[in-house]
Amino acid sequence: MPSIISVSNLSKTYGSGFTALKNINLEIQRGEIFALLGPNGAGKTTLISIICGIANLSEGRVTVDGHNISTDYRAARSLIGLVPQELHTDAFESVWGTVSFSRGLFGKPKNPAHIEKVLKDLSLWDKKDSKIVTLSGGMKRRVMIAKALSHEPQILFLDEPTAGVDVELRKGMWEVVRTLQAAGVTIILTTHYIEEAEEMADRVGVINKGEIVLVEDKANLMQKLGKKHLKLHLQGKIDKIPPELAAYNLELSDQGNELTYNYDTKGERTGITSLLGDVRNAGIRFYDLDTSQSSLEDIFVSLVRAP
Ligand SMILES: Nc1ncnc2c1ncn2[C@@H]1O[C@H](COP(=O)(O)OP(=O)(O)OP(=O)(O)O)[C@@H](O)[C@H]1O
Ligand SMILES: [Mg+2]
Repeated sequence: MPSIISVSNLSKTYGSGFTALKNINLEIQRGEIFALLGPNGAGKTTLISIICGIANLSEGRVTVDGHNISTDYRAARSLIGLVPQELHTDAFESVWGTVSFSRGLFGKPKNPAHIEKVLKDLSLWDKKDSKIVTLSGGMKRRVMIAKALSHEPQILFLDEPTAGVDVELRKGMWEVVRTLQAAGVTIILTTHYIEEAEEMADRVGVINKGEIVLVEDKANLMQKLGKKHLKLHLQGKIDKIPPELAAYNLELSDQGNELTYNYDTKGERTGITSLLGDVRNAGIRFYDLDTSQSSLEDIFVSLVRAP
């Protein structure tokens, strides 16, 4: 299936001369939830702003459902809903008024039934006549989502949707996103939170210093997470791994003082029992052992630390 968003060779240099995005290539599949993960200043908001037509690109090409965002801006933009990172709403307008007005901005005819559904889906129906200024932060954020959905977009961008939102509301937000996906909406969200990407996304892209450093199915990432490491701290150092232990693919480290065994927690057998027996039979003694697991966090940290 062709992608719904296609970004090729995209670069962005701001007027200040700062290059915020370097040669980005990214395909977003129709109907997926894609999480863009990266530290502060990585370029997440810049990338989203360009796709949504709020900022201009310096080089490259972006299409949204086949519409080039530079030459066919209106058609591209009408397919997109954006919940920006910075909340700005008309404080003294009512919830109903502000959400209905947003729909009008896209030139769509009035559709009170749709606005009602959006407000109900976001648990804002009982607040429809309240002024924005009287709402809590989490409610305001949901109003921003309602605004973004007012014109029935096929694609929804959520830039840090759960920043400053408490755990319970965050779960509620995830529910909303899943419901939207079930209704056929493609969702791209940015986050600093690895758990959020883990919980929500079908695919994860990691961006750092303006470059995409990894794009992977979450399932594949989770498989990497399923790997554990058993480290044996040896009583005496060894020069090489005895041939009778070759089948275990052990690694020798700390100048021969540590043996590491990598195994899959999702496999039928870990092989630990037989390994320990064979280690003993090979005459190797150890005084301690520990196990560890690589997490998405480790993968992320190692990716963004790389020079
Ligand atoms: N209008 C601008 N002019 C010059 N530089 C900018 C402008 N907007 C953003 N930048 C710079 O571009 C880089 C990327 O910023 P961006 O807002 O895209 O990052 P981000 O990944 O969204 O960060 P955060 O997680 O903090 O929201 C930063 O170094 C930022 O200072
Ligand atoms: Mg940002």
